[in-house]
Amino acid sequence: MIELPNEDLYEVIIRSLNRVNDLLVGHGERVAYSVMRLLEQDGRFSEEEISKIVWTVLFHDIGNFRKTDTWNLVQLENDQDYSHAIYGFLFLKTFFPFSQYATIVRYHHSTDAEIENACIEQKLKWVVKCLRIVDASDLYFVNNGRKDIDKAYTYFQNLSRRLFPAGLPIGSTDFSVMCDMDTIHYRLLERIKRQVLSSGEKEALLRTLVCSMDFRSHYTALHCSMMVRASDMLADCFELEPKVKNEIHIGAILHDLGKIAIPIEILESPGKLDGRLWEIMKSHVMITEDILKGCVSDEILQIAIRHHETLDGSGYPRGISGEELTLPQRIVAVGDIVSALSEERSYKQAFPLHEVMNILGQMCHAGKICPRVMKMLEDHSDSIYHAVLEEGLRTAEAFEQIYAKYYEFTQSSMQ
Ligand SMILES: [Fe+2]
Ligand SMILES: [Fe+2]
Ligand SMILES: [Fe+2]
Ligand SMILES: [Fe+2]
Repeated sequence: MIELPNEDLYEVIIRSLNRVNDLLVGHGERVAYSVMRLLEQDGRFSEEEISKIVWTVLFHDIGNFRKTDTWNLVQLENDQDYSHAIYGFLFLKTFFPFSQYATIVRYHHSTDAEIENACIEQKLKWVVKCLRIVDASDLYFVNNGRKDIDKAYTYFQNLSRRLFPAGLPIGSTDFSVMCDMDTIHYRLLERIKRQVLSSGEKEALLRTLVCSMDFRSHYTALHCSMMVRASDMLADCFELEPKVKNEIHIGAILHDLGKIAIPIEILESPGKLDGRLWEIMKSHVMITEDILKGCVSDEILQIAIRHHETLDGSGYPRGISGEELTLPQRIVAVGDIVSALSEERSYKQAFPLHEVMNILGQMCHAGKICPRVMKMLEDHSDSIYHAVLEEGLRTAEAFEQIYAKYYEFTQSSMQ
């Protein structure tokens, strides 16, 4: 159950997306806003359809997260490397709650002819064209240092004339607002606040975000889903109130959100990270805190950002000691380790159950993890370990299917 208000969910997602690349901060929102305005003026789309398309457009460049070098997205767009549109489409088809709109992401860099010949209903084709025009215009604007709005508008008009030879079926978008991020943010938020989102849709939106960064590498692909499963199962073993279990569940989903800003080379490092790189790696917790602050309850925030703290105070980022760590925080910290040990990583193999328990036992003995949680884990080790592995297998299957289809698509388009 995700009981986050829409506006807080929106804020968490936007803050996270904006962490990927400094140059493209606001790109998703600017494009989503302009597409929203075009759809509103067109009149054929219901409120619900517009809101779902807005979410889709906010995620339209999610396929870029897959790239090794997330710092050069703008360059990638310029290099005509549009494979991210295919990957983003396949990814959203799998995870996104509004997967019926994933098609618009697939074509957002396609040629005029490809869009024209695409087998999609006319209404969606119209959305694809709008997205194509607005996206390209914003990138043009970004690439010119976001200085010359008139030039960007001329670019927008020329592209519109090309894709809609009979004239853009609506007046125009209020292009000058592209410089005013506060207004864009406010207006998008107004729409999202009105949208009726089920708890399942909210969870799927968060999972889309979290999986997009986990799926950057097969070493990290399974982490969040396995970690959430381990934490949920441990929480079930204790007689906790549903509210607390729910906080554990959301805190676990969000715990590594800050990794969105950590370069994949660091996440995939085959050896022990040296001083500077280790500091960058550790910074994911503070980034998670920045993203979540003010958007989730303090209980959820603390669960998410204390997963690397240890009872003896030797953890990070704050070195908080045992008395300050609550049971839910201790559960999630153990859930994180169970998951990490049960996964294959760039620097290690997946460990069998007895080895997982051995390592955790040593950590408990050294005063790092909670003996109560450890005891509960020992009592249920078999069922928890196998459920966690099963969860990992399900996620691995989704990962493999997306990549297999991706290679199929990109190979056939190269022939
Ligand atoms: Fe793109
Ligand atoms: Fe884009
Ligand atoms: Fe972490
Ligand atoms: Fe983690």
